[in-house]
Amino acid sequence: MCGIVGYIGGRRATEICLAGLRRLEYRGYDSAGVAVMSKGKLVVRKKVGKLQVLADSLEAEPIEGAPGIGHTRWATHGKPSDANSHPHLACGDKIALVHNGIIENYAELKEQLMARGCVFRSETDTEVIAHLVGKYYEGDLLAAVIRAAKDCEGAYALAVICEDEPDVMIAARLKSPLVVGLGEGENFIASDMLAVRPETDQVYVLDNDEFAKVTRDRVELFGPEGQRIEKEPYVIPWDAAAAGKMGHEKFMHKEIHEQPGCIRDTLAGRVAAGMEEISLEGLTMSEDEIKQVQRVLFTACGTAYHAGMYGRFVMERLAGIPSEVDLASELRARDPVILDNTLAIIVSQSGETADSLEGLLELREKGAKIGSIVNVVDSAIARESHWTVYTKAGPEIGVASTKAYTLQCLVALMLAVRFAEVRGSKPKAELEELREGIARLPAAVEATLENEQQIVELAEKYQQYDDCLFLGRGVSFGSAMEGALKLKEISYVHAEGYAAGEMKHGPIALIAPECYTVAIAVRGEVYEKMLGNIQEVKARDGKVIAVAFEDDEDIKQHVDDVIPIPRVPELIAPIPVQVPLQLFAYHVAKFRGEDIDQPRNLAKTVTVE
Ligand code: F6R
Repeated sequence: MCGIVGYIGGRRATEICLAGLRRLEYRGYDSAGVAVMSKGKLVVRKKVGKLQVLADSLEAEPIEGAPGIGHTRWATHGKPSDANSHPHLACGDKIALVHNGIIENYAELKEQLMARGCVFRSETDTEVIAHLVGKYYEGDLLAAVIRAAKDCEGAYALAVICEDEPDVMIAARLKSPLVVGLGEGENFIASDMLAVRPETDQVYVLDNDEFAKVTRDRVELFGPEGQRIEKEPYVIPWDAAAAGKMGHEKFMHKEIHEQPGCIRDTLAGRVAAGMEEISLEGLTMSEDEIKQVQRVLFTACGTAYHAGMYGRFVMERLAGIPSEVDLASELRARDPVILDNTLAIIVSQSGETADSLEGLLELREKGAKIGSIVNVVDSAIARESHWTVYTKAGPEIGVASTKAYTLQCLVALMLAVRFAEVRGSKPKAELEELREGIARLPAAVEATLENEQQIVELAEKYQQYDDCLFLGRGVSFGSAMEGALKLKEISYVHAEGYAAGEMKHGPIALIAPECYTVAIAVRGEVYEKMLGNIQEVKARDGKVIAVAFEDDEDIKQHVDDVIPIPRVPELIAPIPVQVPLQLFAYHVAKFRGEDIDQPRNLAKTVTVE
């Protein structure tokens, strides 16, 4: 959480920083600030509230000059306020610093620094690092940052400038993401490639314990002891337009509509009609290793966890391997027992989620083989895994995850089919039917998107309800959980996802005319049971919306409204099922006037535990 941008070059730093921060606002939007070397002096401006408050202030009273560093905050230590906003200053206000991450030993460090006479002006952990850099500064900013980093425990990405060295910016990384963008006569620092992509497609992705000394014409990289490091720049594989809204009102809307294309990209070269086997380039396990797996453990947070629920189902069903799914935070709380031949699969859009990353490290330490399903190439989770299969979603900026989710499910399904092919756990004809169904998914998802107007009308009809249940069974259980999460996080409607069979063990008490139910009722193994659950709701005057196959005429007699999806094999249905549920959440939130791309209290990448 929190976004960092830095600029050094001939242009006005505030403009580049603001443009970069706009693209990083998904990381946090409690407050924002900049520090700029302007006419030989460090000038700082910081404002509580969304980035626009800072932008308005900079428009009314511009700050000239460069280098400059900027920050958008998601509050951890200290509530959102001007004082707690970054940048933080130290050393007689000569040094300015922005930070993403958490300094775990900040209280102890703060006490020591206060005993030396440092005066703190905020409640943040970050200000401790600024004072530490000040403490060690003896005319060499890089050396001071390297020294200060040694005292800090936790996670950080830093950008630092100093009045006495007006031609230098220092970047440092431990556990929180940071890249250095390479320009001509100018260079950039940012938390995410998104922020620098309009300016350059060449970046250094910093690893843990790496530091960069950035001037207009040069970027030098250093290790934790100050030793020089050489690495090749990474070339960003998508163009700047991919990070824009491309005519859509909100990123979330654009991202929902991108799904057919993203599915095509994720399938390319991996599955096609007529292909005899799935080919997953990232899956580096040999056939023997795949045959030896005795347990699969999906681990993730939030939406990615729901994709893991689907992964668990298809892996067990198709590959016949005992499979489980765990919330990364809970897994770690439990000190899990890992038996031989366990494959853990970490699912993450950002590849940076702290709980998922720490869960990965613990599972690896305990001997599990680590695979991952990740969107951001070369992110921490991908780098720490033994193998990674990437979802090809491109940048996902809307805080509510949409296209990443359907692609995580798709990759989990491809893995399960691949494991089944290798292990011979299902008849060839069944696997062929699944591969063909997968190859037809882009068209199926396109068809659900064409139905958007009906979803708008449904959203208008149900927008005033404040309570809602999502029910799913079997392969659709995760879809119900994800449908509820999407609705609650952007519209603030109280929505619960439930396994339909659990209804009568408690949640049925909630059914009343003022609570509606969304039932995932695609024809298949548990269809009749789901119809039974729908009757239970109707008998208690609850309204029901069913998501069902478009050729299912019967369902209409049982429910108030139907969201139709094209017929696909039941095991694949959760992918097209989710798309209208994403649109439904989007339009309910829109009718309720909520800030869809930046819902309250949330940040896209959760780099704190
Ligand atoms: C909800 C959402 C979050 C993320 C979760 C994990 O819409 O986006 O629940 O799914 O924070 O994030 P990643 O996938 O980046 O690990």
